[in-house]
Amino acid sequence: MRNAHHWWQRGIVYQVYPRSFQDSNGDGIGDLKGIAARLDHLVDLGVDAVWVSPIYPSPMADFGYDVSDHRDIHPLFGTLQDFDRLVEAVHARDLKIILDFVPNHTSDQHPWFVESRSSRINPKRDWYIWRDGKPDGGVPNNWVSEFGGSAWTRDEATGQFYYHAFLKQQPDLNWRNAQVRAAMLDVLRFWLDRGVDGFRVDAIHHLIEAEHLRDNPLNPDWREGQSPARRLIRLYSLDQEETHAAIAEMRALADRYGDRVLIGEASLPIEQLMAYYGDDTPGFHLPFNFHLIKSAWEPHVIAALIEQYERALDGGRERWPNWVLGNHDKPRVASRVGPAQARVAAMLLLTLRGTPTIYQGEEIGMEDVPIPTQAVCDPWEKNVPGLGLGRDPERTPMQWDATENAGFTRGEPWLPLSSDHGVLNVQRQRAEPSSMLSLYRALIALRRREPALSIGVHVKAEAVGPVLTYRRFHEGRWLSVALNFSGEPQVFRNGADAHDILLSTHLDRVERCNGAVELRANEGIVMAAA
Ligand code: NOJ
Repeated sequence: MRNAHHWWQRGIVYQVYPRSFQDSNGDGIGDLKGIAARLDHLVDLGVDAVWVSPIYPSPMADFGYDVSDHRDIHPLFGTLQDFDRLVEAVHARDLKIILDFVPNHTSDQHPWFVESRSSRINPKRDWYIWRDGKPDGGVPNNWVSEFGGSAWTRDEATGQFYYHAFLKQQPDLNWRNAQVRAAMLDVLRFWLDRGVDGFRVDAIHHLIEAEHLRDNPLNPDWREGQSPARRLIRLYSLDQEETHAAIAEMRALADRYGDRVLIGEASLPIEQLMAYYGDDTPGFHLPFNFHLIKSAWEPHVIAALIEQYERALDGGRERWPNWVLGNHDKPRVASRVGPAQARVAAMLLLTLRGTPTIYQGEEIGMEDVPIPTQAVCDPWEKNVPGLGLGRDPERTPMQWDATENAGFTRGEPWLPLSSDHGVLNVQRQRAEPSSMLSLYRALIALRRREPALSIGVHVKAEAVGPVLTYRRFHEGRWLSVALNFSGEPQVFRNGADAHDILLSTHLDRVERCNGAVELRANEGIVMAAA
């Protein structure tokens, strides 16, 4: 099995949020030519694949997750020709490209929905989920949209309600309809034929709803101030058994194209997540594991999480793990755990067993940017203001250099830039041996050099006081990781044998130690048995 690992197992994924990565035409919004112009940053960093969030035509009600044409590029981002050039440029650098695939819903401007809503007898009526209201005219059931408000909207033209798990501009497709399934598989084919290496599949746990559409039960743990959608236990609207057959079809198609990857976005408890690897028929190669984002930053909590995940994976064949610290939907890791611990988090991400995904800007320690009310763009924040659910703070432009707009655009950036970009930017950090960027590069280089890190087995995560520790092993080589989660120095006892420190998050020591190692405040180290 030694050489049997796929690129998506050995490799590291880097998420580009295209609106905010690099603008090439001065309209203040990032684009495909911009991504192409910055590919050398990814090469320099050492990642293997770039996942690009949606770039298709869209009214942008949910910033591209409301697709109105699955087979084209939004003019804001460029053209299909620009896309083909990007694919070429990516492959010329020996990188892979992963696109976002949004199967659960389309835009309400998509020609399919325009047809579907036009009359009750339109051939595409059944492509979406239409229901009569209650006899009193009320919504068909109590389901709540993820972005607040009822998940049902009444359409004047035909007097029925359509279901939308997200915005009312994002009607849910009816995946029980065979034509819908075929049409969406065709979409995958279209991009696979253009050379993409895989997909990150959006909101997959929402794909199918229970046919009876009964009310969801109330969630007794919900508290005022939490997301309105969590007021209900989404028993009938989420994670339905039939979803797995649809995923198996996507997988069978992807497999026909060779070594491609399907990453499923399902924010679920670990035990439920396992089903998304598939069972008798394969499912996703990587069902996204969001638990590092959700868990409290405490060493015993993270140790328990790692062990729970590893145990759950062991039950199945070919279930490859994956980890992620942040994305375009969640507060940035450096804001959640603080800048000093963000370095420890980086070492955790890049030394755990499983494919890591880095969100753009994490590698320079970008933090959430406060967004003044008049600059809010995210529909979630607009629908349910003030609860801290808005996603603009983690979507602000990438900080490339210290110039006025951080090298992102020569125009007016669509979201405000962080005021720290003079200090916190790629150009400056490239020149600083102890910067966050230098740490990411060193960690990635180490992961590449040491098969124990990329493909080795995982041995027991545990918390020893404030220190989280685990070991990795491959072909006779043992590595240990010790991460000090505290702001105080700690002594870490690593058995009696001598160890070589290969890397410290402080980037200032490579030394041999015996038995006890002194960890400084907020320091993580990777050691090899000497
Ligand atoms: C998950 C995406 O990451 C998020 O940005 C989007 O709003 C929802 N799915 C709906 O597509």
